[in-house]
Amino acid sequence: ATNKPWGGRFQENSSLAADEFGASIGFDQLMANEDLEGSLAHVEMLRDTKIISAPDAATIITGLKNLQTKLQNGQLQFTVANEDIHMNIEALLAKEIGPVAGKLHTARSRNDQVATDFHLYLKKRLPKVIHEIKHLQNVLVTKAQKHIETIMPGYTHLQHAQPISYGHYLMAYFFMFQRDVERFNFNKKHTDISPLGAAALAGTTFPIDRHQTAKKLGFKKIYSNSIDAVSDRDFVLEFLSNAAILMLHLSRLSEEIILWSSYEFNYLELSDQYTTGSSIMPQKKNPDMAELIRGKSGRVFGHLMSLLTVIKALPLAYDKDLQEDKEGTFDTLKTIIPCLKIMSEMIATAKVKTQVMQQATTDDFSNATELADYLAAKGIPFRQAHAIVGKLVLKGLKTGVNLQDIPLAEYQKIMPEIDTEIYHDLQARIAVQRRQSLGGTSFQQVRQQIAEAQQILKNS
Ligand code: ARG
Repeated sequence: ATNKPWGGRFQENSSLAADEFGASIGFDQLMANEDLEGSLAHVEMLRDTKIISAPDAATIITGLKNLQTKLQNGQLQFTVANEDIHMNIEALLAKEIGPVAGKLHTARSRNDQVATDFHLYLKKRLPKVIHEIKHLQNVLVTKAQKHIETIMPGYTHLQHAQPISYGHYLMAYFFMFQRDVERFNFNKKHTDISPLGAAALAGTTFPIDRHQTAKKLGFKKIYSNSIDAVSDRDFVLEFLSNAAILMLHLSRLSEEIILWSSYEFNYLELSDQYTTGSSIMPQKKNPDMAELIRGKSGRVFGHLMSLLTVIKALPLAYDKDLQEDKEGTFDTLKTIIPCLKIMSEMIATAKVKTQVMQQATTDDFSNATELADYLAAKGIPFRQAHAIVGKLVLKGLKTGVNLQDIPLAEYQKIMPEIDTEIYHDLQARIAVQRRQSLGGTSFQQVRQQIAEAQQILKNS
């Protein structure tokens, strides 16, 4: 036998290299709190079901509580020799209370233990993620409210398409982030299932009470199948997928912030607080924070892809490969929360150059649809109107005359019924105001969206 907790059937010690390679204590110590919490629930259940005696249970409970205090005070020392957080805590417990510590692992395996810890860990942290998304949504709504009547070019293919309200643009992100919230809320359901009591994979011969431990740990449900309980990590994959989509939204928003703070666009000026300078070029003000958020989306996508790949061909039930589920998940949490915080502050403090935005909608041909619509309303079939306007644009591009600057006499050559009303319709602001269809960019529709958003934020 060796001195490992599982050393009975071994004659030789494991190599130091194997110990180091196999150990997860370097990262799974982040779940120390959850591990102690899970053990406390387990030992109380062992006592109540009379699987272990009340005095033994009392000793173990005291020991675990001491470890909780020591953990709070940073007094616990973990070692690679004990491989992971579960065996480290068991070893530390033995130091506290002696051999009776060995009774804690009755009717339990590290397989259901690690799954329990991880469920608890994620379950506790999802509300924080949702809270930070909501904060960002609040910032977006506040900003949108200020800019309902700020006119800017709307883009498709990054080419001027039609004028829109800047508030409308901001609200587009609000609703994307709302679906992120909904996805994380759904994810909560799947972290809220207790694997504890599945033991290694097949359940246990001891008369355990899984309802008691689930209730004590605050789980709403219990895994109905012990093999499923220790094998799957779909609650983690769901989290990583949700995080990847969230980062994708943040990254698109970042990309626009970066573009729009460039000399060429000049729609935004980020505050000094959320930008950096250059060590060589004195004039620089760089949107580093937005670039980093865009960049960090890569690692989160990577963590999702990595875990999908780890799990895809694993035979049931537990395989050690599953130990690879943690670092990417911890890193994802460590990444998305600051990204959300920085994005909120960056947007809240950015200066919006409303004049430049507005100007960009008058120096261009983004009112071409208005003209085509006007002609169509006068009876010219839309396809034909489209072609007429296309020719006017082509000519305008050569002569530098925009559609709103073509004299009425010219327009009347196309159709005598054309009157000065045309110049009204060709104004960007009017083009925005007239898009009253549900969800459109008109001021009134944007106000509607803001009201809906405020209701959503209030009800959650
Ligand atoms: N450190 C392991 C993990 O993170 C705990 C479970 C180990 N179980 C086992 N049978 N080796 O997955």
